[in-house]
Formats: sequence, structure tokens, C-alpha cells
Amino acid sequence: MSIHIEAKQGEIADKILLPGDPLRAKFIAENFLEDAVCFNNVRGMLGYTGTYKGHRVSVMGTGMGMPSISIYARELIVDYGVKTLIRVGTAGSLNKDIHVRELVLAQAAATNSNIIRNDFPEYDFPQIADFSLLDKAYHIAENMGVTTHVGSVLSSDVFYSNMFERNLKLGELGVKAVEMEAAALYYMAAQHGVQALAMMTISDSLVNPDEDTTAEERQNTFTDMMKVGLETLITE
Ligand code: HPA
Repeated sequence: MSIHIEAKQGEIADKILLPGDPLRAKFIAENFLEDAVCFNNVRGMLGYTGTYKGHRVSVMGTGMGMPSISIYARELIVDYGVKTLIRVGTAGSLNKDIHVRELVLAQAAATNSNIIRNDFPEYDFPQIADFSLLDKAYHIAENMGVTTHVGSVLSSDVFYSNMFERNLKLGELGVKAVEMEAAALYYMAAQHGVQALAMMTISDSLVNPDEDTTAEERQNTFTDMMKVGLETLITE
């Protein structure tokens, strides 16, 4: 057991898919994994291990925001030996040409969080994806015919932000979407020498506010991304 995860040693695979919403973890386990067994229900942060096309994989919720994903990612890596972590989340588009339901692969993540700045006050330490995971995910998504964008995202500490205009300015500079976890996941992976990638389905748009998805759609219809994530995890 770790502080926030009740799994026994060996119950978590070394490859894991990380949705923010624990109910999405349950959805993935029930719809994509065979013989899925629940390994965590502490704080309702559901986690499961099963097999996908014969490969042992796990899936677990992270909660929302960088403090939450940092706790789970660290315990998965340090206490359970997880080596490959792929976030499958949602993000808000910062670009008028990126629409709801499309996929963004976070090649890099800017952040307004202090998580990294606390450790490197004089530097802008870059938060980048593992290139081999990014490369695999891109080709898998393209082959599946999923509309996919690759580039930087903003990992924000604040959802109801008073920095709306500044976020849009980042969009003008090429940042594709805003979410709340990727930078911390990438920093955790860098600290511990493991592989991480964050991919997000666009759930809403800050530049085309008429575009939206419902909570039910968010939970149930992001199946393309789940397949891209699982295929990326098992591809050598
Ligand atoms: N902002 C921050 N995080 C998000 C958003 C957003 O608009 N949409 C999905 N995750």
C-alpha cells in the first residue's frame, strides 16, 4: 500500500492509462480490458488492472489538477514501479482550428503552476513528452483516422481563471489547448526517468464557445482516444 493507493505490490501493471475522472477509468476497464480487477477505491479514485490484446495494463483516475495527478503519478512510479504513463484527458481549445472531439497530443506543456518553479526558480524547465510514445501515438491516431494535433498545451492551476485573455494570447502563440495536469505528469516522469505522454480530447473551446460536449459525452464517447492510448501503451 502507498499513502493514497491500496493496491498490493504486483497488482498494478508497469504501463498505465490515466484519465482524470475515476468513472472514466471504470468505463475503460469495463469496455476495453479483459479480466479487469479493481485495485483501488481509496477516495473513490478507481484503478483497475486487466489485459488488452494479451498485454497486462492498468488504468486509474488521477483527479483534477496538478497536485492531484502529482500524488498519484509519484506513488504509481515510486511505490509500484510503473514505467509508462499515458494521460487520457480533456482540454479546452485555444485555437479556432481545433474543434471539440479532436485529439491533441501534448508534445510540451507550459504551466502557470509553481510545482516546477519551486525547484528551479531561475529556469524555465521544459515539460516535454517522451518522444517514442508521442511518435507511436501520432501514427496510431493517424492510422485510425482520428483528427490529431501535435504541439504544446497549457497546464493551468486555475479552471475559473481571471487570466482568460492571457490564455488566449498563448493560443495566438501556438499553444493548442488548456488543461490542468500534463506539465506535472511530465515533470514527475523527468524526475524519475520514466516515460509519459498526455493526450487530450477537446471537450470545449475557449475561442469557439458555441462548441461544447455534455458530461455524459465526456464519459462515454471519447473511445477513440482510449484506443489510441491503449494501442500506444502496448506497441513496442
Ligand atoms: N480549462 C482547463 N481545463 C480544461 C478545460 C478548460 O477549458 N477543458 C477541459 N479541461
